[in-house]
Amino acid sequence: MTASIVGWAHTPFGKLGAETVESLVVKVATDALADAGISAGDVDEIVLGHFNAGFSAQDFTASLVLQADPELRFKPATRVENACATGSAAVHQGVRAIASGAAKIVLVVGVEQMTHTPGLEVGRNLLRASYLPEDGDTPGGFAGVFGKIAQAYFQKYGDQSDALAMIAAKNHKNGVANPYAQIRRDFGYDFCRSESEKNPFVAGPLKRTDCSPVSDGAAALVLMDVETARSMRRAVNIRATGHAQDFLPMSKRNILDFEGCTVAWQRALAKAGVTLSDLSFVETHDCFTVAELIEYEAMGLTPKGQGARAIKEGWTRKDGKLPINPSGGLKAKGHPIGATGVSMHVLSAMQLAGEAPEGMQIRDARLAGIFNMGGTAVANYVSILEPVR
Ligand code: COA
Repeated sequence: MTASIVGWAHTPFGKLGAETVESLVVKVATDALADAGISAGDVDEIVLGHFNAGFSAQDFTASLVLQADPELRFKPATRVENACATGSAAVHQGVRAIASGAAKIVLVVGVEQMTHTPGLEVGRNLLRASYLPEDGDTPGGFAGVFGKIAQAYFQKYGDQSDALAMIAAKNHKNGVANPYAQIRRDFGYDFCRSESEKNPFVAGPLKRTDCSPVSDGAAALVLMDVETARSMRRAVNIRATGHAQDFLPMSKRNILDFEGCTVAWQRALAKAGVTLSDLSFVETHDCFTVAELIEYEAMGLTPKGQGARAIKEGWTRKDGKLPINPSGGLKAKGHPIGATGVSMHVLSAMQLAGEAPEGMQIRDARLAGIFNMGGTAVANYVSILEPVR
């Protein structure tokens, strides 16, 4: 056992034109403390996940959390960054502070504001999470990078357009019940499978419905040492964590294997003393549908090249043997980079506490797995969560 989540907050994800990074941070920090019933003066440490990379002119943002309450002044506060896994990097940093005994209460915030930035610049900023000497000029931004991965996968294992469309349709269907999701539309398989004016090809075999959207949003949670958390109104334990960082250049590894994802899952499951089949559901990093497909294999759900089975045979649907992305995933929920990992922890904690929104709640959820990925399986974070009964 590492730390417990005792409170949380989540803004809707989407185009939040009236908000700023500062207003988003202040809102979720304030709401998470109130939700936990913790006064700001009792917080020992603050961790902010914020990718930025050009999205906001205001860099150096850790101290923005202090604006939520004057009592936060002079608390240790640090901003962490690990590309699209920035949010989980922040959560795991908070867990470490508690595990080391340096803190008893940690406030973790994740934020990103992307939609104020013009489209071309969005692509350029996101490409900063690739290895620039090899992929820095990829047309289509990060979609272009994952388009290349999808192409390579198709070449090796055959055309997977049906499976990708089924993953998109599943996650969009799930997203309808998530009040925080950016896109709450059940597009259906046929729309996701067909190229159309409303669903054009974006990069390689990836269409618009294969991509997560560009988003603003924030999420926050309050971590507490497990002992003290027992006396709280409700608590969800982070039973184990795993982090595996891989080489940045894709040329130094077999990119179709997402090896870092496998290592992170193995570490976390071993530490928790459980197997994949013990999990009630998983929130996984579907920045693009092909990522979810390869993650089925990397987490050990199917052998290599057979990820399609998991979606085609219904295993990962909300009523399947291992529901994956009951929140709608990044695909429907949105992907404000620094907020995503924190959001995954918040929404999983809600499920385990039995407080998920109606329609999204997995019945009798007992154990959750989270996989949050930065870059192309470069930063790999897994958390295993369970409720305190
Ligand atoms: N999935 C489904 N629908 C989407 C969408 C997505 N990813 N992105 C936008 N839409 C919808 C919009 O809601 C809008 O619908 P409407 O016409 O009914 O209002 C329509 O498509 C057009 O929106 P627009 O914003 O003009 O689309 P776009 O073509 O400029 O952007 C993408 C689409 C896929 C290029 C953009 O979402 C993108 O770049 N995504 C990837 C982001 C990324 O790389 N993140 C990092 C991952 S590692």
